[in-house]
Amino acid sequence: MKFKYASRGEKNRKNEDGTSMNKPDNIKWTKKHLLGIEELSPEEIQIILEYAERFKEVLKRPIPKVPALRGKTIVNLFSEPSTRTRASFELAEKRLSADNLSIAASSSSFVKGESLIDTVKNIEAMRVDMIVIRHASAGAAHLVAKHVKASVINAGDGMHEHPTQALLDIFTIKEKLGKVKGVNVSIIGDIAHSRVARSNIRALKKMGANVTICGPKTLIPKQIEEMGLTVTCDLKAALKNADVINILRIQLERQERGLFPSIREYVKNFGITKETLNKYAKKDLLIMHPGPINRGIELSQSAADSKYSVILDQVTNGVAVRMAVLFLLNSAK
Ligand code: CP
Repeated sequence: MKFKYASRGEKNRKNEDGTSMNKPDNIKWTKKHLLGIEELSPEEIQIILEYAERFKEVLKRPIPKVPALRGKTIVNLFSEPSTRTRASFELAEKRLSADNLSIAASSSSFVKGESLIDTVKNIEAMRVDMIVIRHASAGAAHLVAKHVKASVINAGDGMHEHPTQALLDIFTIKEKLGKVKGVNVSIIGDIAHSRVARSNIRALKKMGANVTICGPKTLIPKQIEEMGLTVTCDLKAALKNADVINILRIQLERQERGLFPSIREYVKNFGITKETLNKYAKKDLLIMHPGPINRGIELSQSAADSKYSVILDQVTNGVAVRMAVLFLLNSAK
C-alpha cells in the first residue's frame, strides 16, 4: 500500500486517482476520540496498524514529515510523569506538521486548584483541535471528551487504559512475527495496577492472540480470567510456550500497602534473567517492556539488552502508531 503524501520534491504530483498527494485518501474512519482499546473494533485496530505501517515508511525518508495536520493545533496535557509517551506524541504531531505545545501539571494552574474541566475548557478556548491527556484518575479522558469539542486522546488514565501503548505493542508483535492472531503472549508483573496490561489484554484478545498473565497473586485482579485468558503465578508456566513476554514494572506509586513480602522475593520469583530465559523460554522469544524499566527487578540488565529484546523497537514504532492515530481521528467526519 503506497502512502499518498508527497515527499520533498513531489509536491505537485498526483495520485493514480487524480487526487492530490497532499490530501488523505479515502479513509473509512468515524471515531473522533481515542479513549480506550475497549471502544475499538478489531477492524479499527487493523486500520490503525495499516496507517502506522505507512507512517513508518514516511519516518524513514530524509525529511520525515507530511503536511497532514498543517493548521491543526494539539495540546499535550500531562499530569503524571512521562518520557516515552509525551516525547512520542510531540514528535508524531511535529512529523504531521501540527502546531503543538505540552503542559505539565506541576507547572500549570492545576497546582493552584483549577479543576480538570476548567483547565481543558480554557485550553479549548484558544482554538485547539486535539487534546492528548495523561491523568492519574481512571476515566479522566472520557470526562474531558464529554466537555470539549476537540478530539481527545487518552495517553494513560490511572490504572484504566493506555491505548496507544497497546497499539504500538501489537504493531511491534506484527512487525516481528508477521501476525498477532494465534501468537502466545505472556504479560508478567504487576497486572493489578497496570493500564498497559488492561489495554494490551483487550487489544491482544481482539486481534486473536492467546494471552497469559503472570505475577504474585496479590498483583492479579480478581476475576480477570473472565476476559478469556490464562492466569498463573508460576513464571516457568508463563514462559514455557510464550512467543512474546511483555514485562511490567511494579507500580509502587499506585500501591497503598505492601502487596508482596519484599523486592528481593519478587526478583527471585518473577524477575526475568538471561538464565531463566535460557532454561525455560523459547529460543526465538521476544521481550517487550513499555518502560520505564527498573533494571535488576522485573528484568535483569543482561536480559533487557539481550538479542531477545525489542524494547527500543517499541519506542521507535510508537511515533508511527501515534501519527496514525492523530491522522485518523482528524479525518473523522
Ligand atoms: N510507556 C510509557 O507510558 O512510558 P512513559 O511513562 O515514559 O510515557
